[in-house]
Formats: sequence, structure tokens, C-alpha cells
Amino acid sequence: MAKELKYGMVGGSLRAFIGDVHRKAIGFDTRAELVAGCFSTREELNRETAEAYGLTPERTYSDYRQMAVAEAAKPDGIDFVCVTTPNDTHYDICKTFLEAGIHVVCDKPLCFEVEQAETLVRISEEKGLVFGVTYTYTGYTMVKVAKEMIATGKIGDIVSVNAEYVQEWLLDELSPENKGSDKNLSVWRTDPAKSGISNCVGDIGTHMENMVTYLTGLKIKRLVATTNAYGYALDLNANILVEYENGINGGYWCSQVAAGKLNGLAVRIYGTEGALEWEQHFPDYLKYTPRNQATQTLSRGTGYISEHAGSFSRLPSGHPEGLFIGFANIYRNIITTILKKKAGETPTAEDLDFPSVREGLAGVKFVHAVIGSAAADSKWVSL
Ligand SMILES: NC(=O)c1ccc[n+]([C@@H]2O[C@H](COP(=O)([O-])OP(=O)(O)OC[C@H]3O[C@@H](n4cnc5c(N)ncnc54)[C@H](O)[C@@H]3O)[C@@H](O)[C@H]2O)c1
Repeated sequence: MAKELKYGMVGGSLRAFIGDVHRKAIGFDTRAELVAGCFSTREELNRETAEAYGLTPERTYSDYRQMAVAEAAKPDGIDFVCVTTPNDTHYDICKTFLEAGIHVVCDKPLCFEVEQAETLVRISEEKGLVFGVTYTYTGYTMVKVAKEMIATGKIGDIVSVNAEYVQEWLLDELSPENKGSDKNLSVWRTDPAKSGISNCVGDIGTHMENMVTYLTGLKIKRLVATTNAYGYALDLNANILVEYENGINGGYWCSQVAAGKLNGLAVRIYGTEGALEWEQHFPDYLKYTPRNQATQTLSRGTGYISEHAGSFSRLPSGHPEGLFIGFANIYRNIITTILKKKAGETPTAEDLDFPSVREGLAGVKFVHAVIGSAAADSKWVSL
């Protein structure tokens, strides 16, 4: 049976990291089919990847600009493109596809400069095109539960926020015996030409910033930061104190040199009536502490979570879900929104519950504020 939408991908060759996760996540709901790609600038790798996914040579492109023009001209051209290349290429690729009238999903961080992000917001809004930015972790069911609990006052008024995203992988990569090794494609993150003004804050700090905003609705007014690069070109560790528009403070920490930490995104939201804590390593659970009561561990797949939040689960309770499902949930809403636009219908607020180009812009502003503050001897920087 023909799938409802056709999509293309830029980046995401075989052996790359996140492109494959996008493809698998889209596949969970079987509504969109991969039909075109420009997976690598390396011709052989591009062809090998296209063959592995059954693409025709005609729709295997060596250049993304050529792909945008050719796909826009086809009666059955792609409905959307997934941009899964390193950061330095995002702006031009996204702009090229938007200008060709094609919906875009881009990975984070959205681009290098605030002005570039504003341009992407403007073009997508002027053209009425959908633009998703894959801040993946907001797709988990228990994150949806936490957001609902905060919105319905379960923890009262927020008094403090604490968030961290900590990993250890660059401790190994940058050790003297591994330095310069090309065994890990992802080391481009430490190169300013590919990564931009930041490594750690752009790569994982933006997820942390997005998660807090998603859960609480709090907007950062200003922040003060320190970063550590340990002699390398870009940050590998950052400590950030934020002040939200309502005067409440939050403390954030992101690091890629924290031994023992694998992919440790964690958020703790404290309110006048209790607290919530969620950790990416245990995504099916949410810790809830009502004021003056023992901490409870809430679980996905149970009768006490709302029908809406529960609808993001794909498996019964006790059967672990994971990153692929979190990612699939982001795509579920993006694809529903594109389908409704295609049918001339108006997407609902629930359909639009996915990170958009505006959240991508907020991430780019956050990166500039953190790096700017650290460079100015930890001065307060307004966003
Ligand atoms: N949402 C998440 O949780 C998450 C996780 C990992 C990475 N990312 C983001 O995804 C992006 C890619 O990261 P990665 O770890 O997959 O990188 P990677 O190095 O593993 O893969 C990059 C891919 O892009 C291809 N590529 C590079 N330049 C290209 C070009 N001009 N045209 C076509 N293909 C090109 C490479 O061949 C490779 O296939 C980054 O922006 C990163 O920040 C997001």
C-alpha cells in the first residue's frame, strides 16, 4: 500500500549516527516513505546508502541543491526533507529546501547565527511550511505527563529549576592515545568550522534548555555562564545560572567529560506544592514528590496518566520503550501536521506539539548567550 507522504534525507549515510534514528523513528508509524536522498558528499558512501534503502539512482543526489530543485519539480516529489548533517551545513540546506517549497525537519542545533535562524523562521512562516527541529527528548510519554502536571498545578508555582545534560564520551576521544583517531565520525563536534562557536552547549546544552522551556513554559530573561575547554578549541563543560522572565532562577550544567555519565539528561522542577524529576536514562518513569509526602514513582502505561499523554506509548507498562519511540512521537505530530496542511485542514494544538523552528531559534540564542557570557568573564547576558 502506498504511504501517505514521501520524504528525502540529507546526511545520514550508513555508519552515521542520527540519520538512521530519524529513518527508524519515521518508520514506527508507517505513514511516510523514504524516496530520495543525498546521504554523503562521498560518492561511494552516498550510493551504498541509497542502495541499502532501495532508492533509485535517479533520486540519489550528489548535491542537496540539485535534490531540492529536482524534487520540487516532480509531481510526486518529496513532501518533506530530514536534515541530519553536521551543524555547519544546516542553514544552507534548510533554506534551500524551504525556498523550493518543501517542508523541513532539521536536527539541532538549528544553525550557527541568530540572524540565520531568524531567516529560517521568516521563510517557513511566510511560505506556510512546517519546520520541525528534533529536540528528541520532549517526545517521551513521561515528559508529556510532567508537562501536564506542571500546567495543572500539581507542584504549585515553580520556585526553582535544576537541569543537567552530562556525558563522558569526549573524555575518551580526547585522551592522548585516541586524539586524532577517525574511528568516531562524531568528533567533528570539537571542530569550530563544523560545530560553530560551541561544542558542548550547542550539542547537548540546547536539549536541556529546550526541555525546561517545554515542561515549564519559563522563558530565560538572562544568564551568566562559565565554560571549560581544557586547551581545546571549543567548550566541553559549562555551568550556567539562568534568570527567567518571572524572576525565578535555574541552574544548568552540561558536560562531555563527566566520567560515568553516559547520556544523562535530567530535569528537576521544584514548586510550592511539590517537585518532579525526570531522567533520560529511565525515560518510562517520573518521580513526583507532593509537598510533605513521600516520593512516588509514576510509570508509563498505567491508568493514572491522562489518555492524551498515554497515547504516546506504544507498549504496555513494564516493556521498556526508548529513544526511538521518543523520536517517533516527535515525527508522529510533524507528519500529522504536514498531512493536514496537504489536505487543507488546520492542525490542532495537539498536532502542533512538536519542537519547531522557533524553538530552534531559541536554542541558537541560548548558545550565543552562554558562550558570550563565558567569554566576557561571566557577565550577565540578556536573551
Ligand atoms: N536529536 C538528537 O538527539 C541528536 C543526536 C545526535 C546528533 N544530532 C545532530 O544531528 C546532526 C548530525 O549528527 P551525527 O552525529 O549524526 O553526525 P555524523 O557525523 O554521524 O553524520 C553526519 C552525516 O552527514 C553527512 N554529510 C555531511 N555533510 C554533508 C553534505 N554536505 N551533504 C550530504 N551529506 C552530508 C555525512 O556523510 C554523514 O552521513 C548534528 O547537527 C547533531 O548535532 C542530534
